Amino acid sequence: MSQRTLVLLKPDAVSRGLIGEIVGRIERKAGWTIAALELRTLDRATLQAHYAEHVGRPFYEPLLEFMSSGPSVALVVEGERVIEGVRALAGPTDPIAAPPGSIRGDLGTVVRENLIHASDSPESAERELKIFFPELV
Ligand code: PPS
Repeated sequence: MSQRTLVLLKPDAVSRGLIGEIVGRIERKAGWTIAALELRTLDRATLQAHYAEHVGRPFYEPLLEFMSSGPSVALVVEGERVIEGVRALAGPTDPIAAPPGSIRGDLGTVVRENLIHASDSPESAERELKIFFPELV
């Protein structure tokens, strides 16, 4: 079933010059297409909406701080089982635990600076796409 997912290349990906590398990995996956792509510095209101489920967690404030520290790239990726697929391509949250071959496993450093966000379910994708690309939904 064709789906859409929200992907963010976080400020560490942009500042380390990894946009091309990461977008390339997504683009090379057969059958997926990039439906939107934009460089943006994310403001607190957007990040509060995006990370609403994590309010009160110890990593919440540092995460918002980091995510607003410089430009990110927001993308909409479309394709068969793309929600699950981009999560697999990204690898687990902690880059140390992420397997070689995954984006975080090959390029990640520490948990906070883990390069990429991808929606984790169809419900999250729908909610997040409305926040970042309301004109597309
Ligand atoms: S959970 O418990 O499964 O919901 O958490 P998880 O999906 O692993 O993480 C939720 C988001 O918080 C980020 N995160 C952190 N940021 C900063 N510091 C620490 N220690 C930390 N732990 C988790 C994690 O990268 C997730 O953000 P996204 O943007 O979805 O990657």
